[in-house]
Amino acid sequence: MKGKKIAVVGGGKMGEVIAAGILKAGLAQPGSVTVTDIVPDRLSYLKAKYAVATSGDNRKAARDADIVVLAVKPQGMGDVLKDLAPVIDRRKLVISIAAGIPIRFIAEHLKKGVPVVRVMPNTPALVGEGAAALAAGEAASGADLAAAREIFDALGLTVVVKEELMDAVTGLSGSGPAYGFIIIDALSDGGVLMGLPRDVATKLAAQTLLGAARLYLDSLKHPGELRDMVTSPGGTTIAGIQALEKHGLRSSLIHAVEAATLRSKELGKGK
Ligand SMILES: NC(=O)c1ccc[n+]([C@@H]2O[C@H](COP(=O)([O-])OP(=O)(O)OC[C@H]3O[C@@H](n4cnc5c(N)ncnc54)[C@H](OP(=O)(O)O)[C@@H]3O)[C@@H](O)[C@H]2O)c1
Repeated sequence: MKGKKIAVVGGGKMGEVIAAGILKAGLAQPGSVTVTDIVPDRLSYLKAKYAVATSGDNRKAARDADIVVLAVKPQGMGDVLKDLAPVIDRRKLVISIAAGIPIRFIAEHLKKGVPVVRVMPNTPALVGEGAAALAAGEAASGADLAAAREIFDALGLTVVVKEELMDAVTGLSGSGPAYGFIIIDALSDGGVLMGLPRDVATKLAAQTLLGAARLYLDSLKHPGELRDMVTSPGGTTIAGIQALEKHGLRSSLIHAVEAATLRSKELGKGK
């Protein structure tokens, strides 16, 4: 990454998070990062907040960059790629975060041999707790994948998967923050039912999930083993677990990931 110039095409929610992550991790100086957008106010905001270079001209920004991050909406990708194609050659790395857009679609719009890495990030990247899966296209080298990974490591956890698993990633970690919010809200409801004030209940619920996740990630012990550590014979936790099993929490979550994965496959048909 050292000395590389980066263009982030599309300065929306994710484009901002990516540019901010690059700067925070010291992967590039603000002057080496250009963010583009079609909304001038957005560019003014990004320039003022991060001191990055900004531009309304995608092609110029991409021409001057070593790494081009595509962060526009999936429906705009075709037009953006057509515009960028003449200035992107195999010496540049293209990283796309557009949901449901296959590497093949991107490669078909660009010159032969341009390395492409596809990434599925999620919104907790906003607070440095993202989970992103990366898949490398045929023309991408190990160094290309490592460069892309460095960017998303700055925003949370990264994993590398085969591209065919991106729909499953979408169903789990892409849509997953919403499942997490529902679980927090429901736990909070339980606390309120049992007499806790709402704000106290919601904070306790959220921190408990965060703590459970941190315990798993720091130890990498099987979640069942960690659960057993807090489940004493005849105690309170096993009574709670019995209720969860009776009402099908596990099965609901498994079905949620399945349904979201299938929907992602359906939306990607014909791309
Ligand atoms: N948000 C998520 O949780 C998430 C998670 C995973 C992947 N993604 C992917 O990330 C990408 C960006 O999502 P987002 O949530 O950041 O969307 P967003 O906030 O709408 O950002 C896209 C930005 O690009 C601008 N734009 C549109 N056409 C452009 C063009 N031709 N050239 C330059 N900029 C252009 C948009 O301007 P206008 O608003 O005026 O159109 C907007 O500011 C999407 O492909 C999405 O699939 C998002």
